[in-house]
Amino acid sequence: MHAPSHQAHGRFVAKMFADIVPMYDGLNTVFSLGIDSLWRKRLARAVAARPGDCVLDVAAGTLKVSAVLRVMYPETKVLAMDFCRPMLEKGLAGGGLGPQHIFLPAVADALALPLADNSVHAITVAFGLRNMRPRQEALHEMFRVLKPGGKLCVLELGSTQERIMLGIYNMYLERIMPAVAKAFFRRKGAYRYLAESIAAFPPAHAVKEEMEAAGFCQVTFSRMTAGIVCLHEGMKHAPCCPGC
Ligand SMILES: C[S@@+](CC[C@H](N)C(=O)[O-])C[C@H]1O[C@@H](n2cnc3c(N)ncnc32)[C@H](O)[C@@H]1O
Repeated sequence: MHAPSHQAHGRFVAKMFADIVPMYDGLNTVFSLGIDSLWRKRLARAVAARPGDCVLDVAAGTLKVSAVLRVMYPETKVLAMDFCRPMLEKGLAGGGLGPQHIFLPAVADALALPLADNSVHAITVAFGLRNMRPRQEALHEMFRVLKPGGKLCVLELGSTQERIMLGIYNMYLERIMPAVAKAFFRRKGAYRYLAESIAAFPPAHAVKEEMEAAGFCQVTFSRMTAGIVCLHEGMKHAPCCPGC
C-alpha cells in the first residue's frame, strides 16, 4: 500500500499521458529531432537477450521499445506493461503490432508488477523511471521480478541538475518545449511537468547509487548525445556472477 500522495501522483501521471496520447509519438520525434528511435535501439541492444528469454518492458507507453525488442530479438517473449491503458492501446493500434506480437500487453503499475519473483530475464524502462514514486520502491519491484543473472536497462533524460550543453538543453526543456506544446498542441502543462520531472530526477551517479541500494550489481551508466540521455544498466546477482 502506497502513501496517498504517491497514489495521487500515479493517477496524475496516468491521466496526463492519457491526455497527450494522440500526439505523444509525434511530439517525441519533433522534440528529439528524430534521435529518440536511435536511443531506444541502443537500449534494446544493451539487453543482449538470448533466444527463449522473456523481456519485460516497463512503462511501455505506445510500445516503441517493445517493438524494437521484437524485431531485434525475434525469438524472445516481450511483455509490455504500463499503467496508462490509452498509451498501450495506441501502440497496439498504430504499429501493426497485435497482441499476438507483444505477449501480454498489460495495464500494470511498476510499483506492483503482476509477476512472480525471479520471472523475467531482462527489464527495459525508457523515459519512465523519473515518473515513478517512490522511485526506490519501483527499483526494488523490478529487482524482485528479475531472475538472478538478469539485467535492468533504464533509458532516461539527463538530469538538469547537471548543466547540459552549456545550459542550452535546460533552457530548451524549461522554456521552449512548454511554449511549443502550448502554441501547437494546447498542452503546455504536460510539457511543463516533463521539464519539472527532469529537473527533479537525480544526476546519473545518484541513480547508480539508487540502483545499488535496490540490490543491483555491476551498475554502470553511459551518456549519449552530449548527456541529453543516459543509459543505466545493472545486474541482479547470480551465484555464478563474477565480480560482485
Ligand atoms: C514518457 S512515456 C515513455 C513511454 C515509452 N517507454 C517510450 O519509450 O516512449 C512514460 C510512460 O511511463 C508510464 N508510467 C509512468 N509511471 C508509471 C508507473 N508507476 N507504472 C507504470 N507505468 C508508468 C506512463 O504511463 C507513460 O506511458
